[in-house]
Amino acid sequence: MAFDIEMIKQVYAQMGTRIDKARELLGRPLTLTEKILYAHLWDKTPNTVYTRGKDYVDFAPDRVACQDATAQMALLQFMHAGKPKVAVPTTVHCDHLIQAKVDAATDLKRANETSSEVFNFLESVSNKYGIGFWKPGAGIIHQVVLENYAFPGGMMIGTDSHTVNAGGLGMLAIGVGGADAVDVMAGMAWELKFPKLIGVKLTGKLSGWTAPKDVILKVADILTVKGGTGAIIEYFGEGALAMSCTGKGTICNMGAEVGATTSTFGYDDSMDRYLRATDRADVADAALDVKQHLTADPEVYADPGNYFDQVIEIDLSTLEPHLNGPFTPDLATPISKMSEAAKANDWPLNVEVGLIGSCTNSSYEDISRAASLAKQVAQKNLTTKSKFTITPGSEQVRYTIERDGLIDTFNEIGATVFANACGPCIGMWDRYGDKAASGPRNTIVHSFNRNFAKRADGNPNTLAFVGSPELVTAIAIAGRLDFNPVTDTLINNDGQEVRLEEPRGYELPPEGFAVEDAGFMAPEADGSHVQVVVSPDSQRLQLLEPFVPISSASLQGMKLLIKAFGKCTTDHISMAGPWLRYRGHLDNIANNTLIGAVNAFNKKTNFVKNQLTGEYGGVPDVQRAYKAAGIKTLVVGDHNYGEGSSREHAAMQPRHLGVAAVLVKSFARIHETNLKKQGMLGLTFAQESDYDLIQEDDTFNFIDIDAFAPGKPLTIEVAHSNGAKDTILANHTYNASQIEWFKEGSALNVIKKENA
Ligand code: F3S
Repeated sequence: MAFDIEMIKQVYAQMGTRIDKARELLGRPLTLTEKILYAHLWDKTPNTVYTRGKDYVDFAPDRVACQDATAQMALLQFMHAGKPKVAVPTTVHCDHLIQAKVDAATDLKRANETSSEVFNFLESVSNKYGIGFWKPGAGIIHQVVLENYAFPGGMMIGTDSHTVNAGGLGMLAIGVGGADAVDVMAGMAWELKFPKLIGVKLTGKLSGWTAPKDVILKVADILTVKGGTGAIIEYFGEGALAMSCTGKGTICNMGAEVGATTSTFGYDDSMDRYLRATDRADVADAALDVKQHLTADPEVYADPGNYFDQVIEIDLSTLEPHLNGPFTPDLATPISKMSEAAKANDWPLNVEVGLIGSCTNSSYEDISRAASLAKQVAQKNLTTKSKFTITPGSEQVRYTIERDGLIDTFNEIGATVFANACGPCIGMWDRYGDKAASGPRNTIVHSFNRNFAKRADGNPNTLAFVGSPELVTAIAIAGRLDFNPVTDTLINNDGQEVRLEEPRGYELPPEGFAVEDAGFMAPEADGSHVQVVVSPDSQRLQLLEPFVPISSASLQGMKLLIKAFGKCTTDHISMAGPWLRYRGHLDNIANNTLIGAVNAFNKKTNFVKNQLTGEYGGVPDVQRAYKAAGIKTLVVGDHNYGEGSSREHAAMQPRHLGVAAVLVKSFARIHETNLKKQGMLGLTFAQESDYDLIQEDDTFNFIDIDAFAPGKPLTIEVAHSNGAKDTILANHTYNASQIEWFKEGSALNVIKKENA
């Protein structure tokens, strides 16, 4: 039901010829990453050698997945594309909007009440446009994708950074913004800068207390949170072959924490076993037939330094369990050094809560290994010192571990099982009610992926350490951050010294996976009759109106909205946090537009001059006043404007409010593209120093906008309030089709026109 074997067979049928052609072009053996990339070119047959880290290349991904928070705007936009169905298999997963507070059943019921409007909307749009819908409680997007859709050698994109998890099944799976997802769903190409390649050779074998999680915690230590930027990490070596498929998923999942575009592993027996265990023998058979294409050419792994931009080697036999944190996932401490490190840094040793599960670590192997420790609590007459929670990644995992008695084992140590959803991992953990912002200093350990301040519980004073589920469980039993289960003993309720035995588990459930209702709703074959209903009074959803093209006349007499000073990220342009709930309502969320940007003239945030009244006000209010007066505005910015996430709201909101142009020293590329897609002008100062010419009361005239053409700078007349004028040049990177987007009002308007 849930996967498309015909599509997979088609991908495999084309792979050989394309890979052969790429090998011939490059004149050398290929890495797995290169094979998958060259086999997924939009132009089909490779005919160009791309330069890593430089060339932008169009690709044709096989699948799209969206989670509920990001899907809202993506689907609202897709509805405008004028397509009767999505062009590639697509799924929507309801996982982010479920708060963890009491237990799975209570929390799920509450989420279904408070967010029913959003869930119903996502369900009806999915049904209408041929999108598979995973309802609330079905599981976390990445676990569900691994169980149902990921396949070796495939390429997918997803509107969530941890989409990369599917690399565990040998895919190239990449996190993107909603606008990119819409392009692919509408049948357009998807552009990516051809990545650099990092090879990680795993020698030795994991054993004892060390888990796949420790591999990525070590990689984070080596690469830091930025070290993987613009690169794909390819793992190989005997250590990789000996590891479970889900363990590989954990490693790929946290590749996002080193900034990597994605991570992947070559096809091996562990993937074959996982595919068969998850009811996909046909995919396993198809993969076996082309297995030479699903791993690098043998010469590559024999001499990796010749083929990768960087090679890292890790010996799994000597790798120690690690805890990374607090506040950053690359601050790695081997467990044997934790006592020292905690003392030196004054980290509270008492661990209040241990949390396992999430999309990163809730495989059957993870849970059964953690349960083998929980079992020892009763056997050794211990009492678990910390609170303990489990967030299963999917209903299939939850049902299976319940059937196998593992939930009972956790219940015996007083655990809380939360809903199969993101919950504590995305700050949807109601640990303190409305007192989170001033919560006490405390320590938690979890098996999730991110541990930035406030990420889990909203409390900036919570120190979160990331570790494997087995280490988290042992530490929760001991209640101490400096407990090293490899060497330390515990005193039990009889006053005896006892030792926890090494965790043991099963790679896959001995009796197979089982589930009663996985939570999947297949779309109707013909959804054309399905009505998508959005209440006009809704505060959370708003149907989009097509953007009206920005006319040449409206680009004369424009006013300055804000000259942003210093860093201006997508968070400054469209803040997250409490605004998340408005992600599907453009007009409501527009009330946060640029409220985090610093005004260069007074160094304040959200305090700009309204040139019509001379008064100062919040950016959205002042912008709405210009809009009401029919005056377009311009935003000026510094370097790397729009860095951060690929969130398209940061372009859609200014566009919705009437900003016509953004003129900066330099752009973060994805944001620049997002501005283009929304039919705006994204420009850079030809002379950086012209930034200093811009004054608070300036008016702008785009003199030669009618001659807007690729490679030709635009001329802007800047009229100052003292009557003086400057003429400046603005560079741009619009190609002919992007100029068409501008002329038609947006990229979506162009797609719609083509489909009319
Ligand atoms: Fe959800 Fe946390 Fe994973 S937010 S998708 S469980 S990273």
